[in-house]
Amino acid sequence: MRVARDAEGLAGLAGGVFVPTMGALHEGHASLIRAARARAGGSLPVVVSVFVNPTQFNDPADYERYPRTLDADAALCGAAGADCVFSPPTEVVYPPGAPALVPALPPEATEPGLEDRFRPGHFAGVCRVVRRLFDLVRPSVAIFGEKDWQQAAVVRAMAARDTPWVEILTGPTVREADGLALSSRNRFLTAEDRRAALSLGAALRTAGRERSPADAEAAMRRVLTGAGVTVEYAAVRRADSLLPFADPASPRAGGDPPGRALIAGLAGAVRLIDNAAWPGGQA
Ligand code: PAF
Repeated sequence: MRVARDAEGLAGLAGGVFVPTMGALHEGHASLIRAARARAGGSLPVVVSVFVNPTQFNDPADYERYPRTLDADAALCGAAGADCVFSPPTEVVYPPGAPALVPALPPEATEPGLEDRFRPGHFAGVCRVVRRLFDLVRPSVAIFGEKDWQQAAVVRAMAARDTPWVEILTGPTVREADGLALSSRNRFLTAEDRRAALSLGAALRTAGRERSPADAEAAMRRVLTGAGVTVEYAAVRRADSLLPFADPASPRAGGDPPGRALIAGLAGAVRLIDNAAWPGGQA
C-alpha cells in the first residue's frame, strides 16, 4: 500500500473510491474502507486520507490534542483494503499565499441549529477541506460515516452543487457491544464518563418508541440528564434537511418524511454525538 504526501504521490489514483478521515482510525473507519473496497472492485483504487484539519476545530486545544496515530492508521487501512493512505502536510492542503477556496455553505450547514449552532465555523472548515481533498484526490465516489449525520448531509449538498463528479455515499455507525458509537474521542472517556456516554444510545432507543418528535425530544433529555450528560441538543428532525417537522407535537403520520433523532452532549469533558433513525426501524 502506498503512502502519499502530495499531489504527485497520488499520480494514477484518480477516479477511485475515497474515504476522507482525520485519522485515529477505528472499526467504524475500517467498515467504510471495506465498503469502499467493495464498491471499487478489483479495478478502481481506494484512497484514504488522514489529515487533522485545523480549519474545522472551534477550539485550538481540541485540535492540538486530537490523536495522531499514522502508523497504526496505515496498518488498519492496508488490512481493510485501501491502496493508498494520503497523509498530506498542512501546506499541501492549504498552500501558503494561495487564495482560500471556501465553498458557499448549503442550508444543511446553517439552518438546522444543531452542530452549526454549537460548533460555529465547523462546517465552513469541513466544506473547505473536503472540497480541497476532492480536488487533490479526484475520486468518483466518496464515503462518509453516518455518525456525523449532519456532516454527511452538508457534504452531499455541497458536492451535488460544486463537484457533481463525486458520488457521495454513507456507511452506518459501528457500535460497541454495549451500544456506544465508536469515536476517536472515546479514548478520552474515564470509566465514569463512559457509563454516562451509554445514555446516548439509550436515549435514541427511547426516542424511537415515542409517537411525536416533541415527546421523543423530551424523553431523550430525561435519559441523558438522568445519566449526568450535559445536553447540547436532543432533537428529532427530518432526516434529509434536518429541519423540524411541520408540527412536532403531532404523532407521526403515514405520509411524513423519514425522521432522525440526533444528540450532542458532554460526558465529563468529552463531547459526543450520535443519531438514529426515528422512529426506529427506518433507514
Ligand atoms: O469526519 C471527519 O473525519 C472529518 O470531518 C472529515 C470529513 C475527514 C473532514 O476533515
